[in-house]
Amino acid sequence: MRKIYTVLSLITCAVAANSNFAATPDQEVLIAEAQGLVNAFAGRLKPELKQALSDGGPTLAIEVCASQAPKIADALAAESGWSVSRVSLKERNATRAKADDWERAVLEEFDQRAAAGEPPPAINTSDIRNGQFRYMQAQGVEGVCLLCHGEELSEEVRTSLEQYYPDDMATGYSLGQVRGAISLSREF
Ligand code: HEC
Repeated sequence: MRKIYTVLSLITCAVAANSNFAATPDQEVLIAEAQGLVNAFAGRLKPELKQALSDGGPTLAIEVCASQAPKIADALAAESGWSVSRVSLKERNATRAKADDWERAVLEEFDQRAAAGEPPPAINTSDIRNGQFRYMQAQGVEGVCLLCHGEELSEEVRTSLEQYYPDDMATGYSLGQVRGAISLSREF
């Protein structure tokens, strides 16, 4: 009798697992969509940052970053139906960039991968469970980032960062490190 129950429950599990599988969207499609959003984010923010730097130097660029980065994330979220944010282990924007447990673990793994020599643009990860797909893409420190996230900041940068972000933790970085990540998620 016990054997029959075991067999029955195995069959039930197999059926459940199967139907679950059928309801799961194609992961490659989700990854491609997520990467599209990552590119869209950078494609909108970087030109604004560059323009502000050449028009008004770092002070204007910090203002633009402070106002435009959250707006771009929100606009992409509204257009796509995904959640879109930027996170970091040493956040600058304390209200928006704090990592949750999963993001924190991924960011720690990203740091290890970068330290082992993997270039940040190639560092990403995805996760699918409980009706949610999540994706994170590392944001590496390039030359231009050092102006506002590096070890030695100009007086001008320091002053305007203090004005907007009194609890800023996002300085002291060097080239090739992971500054943070774009974090995306979608329910299905
Ligand atoms: C002109 C100064 C400036 C430059 C240059 C700059 N950033 Fe930032 N960065 C900021 C500001 C200001 C914020 C906070 C924006 C906000 O309030 O969301 C920020 C936030 C971030 C965040 C979100 C997480 C957090 O800590 O709030 C990431 C990731 C990030 N920057 C990566 C980069 C990378 C990578 C580069 C180089 C490609 C770069 N930044 C260049 C000023 C700058």
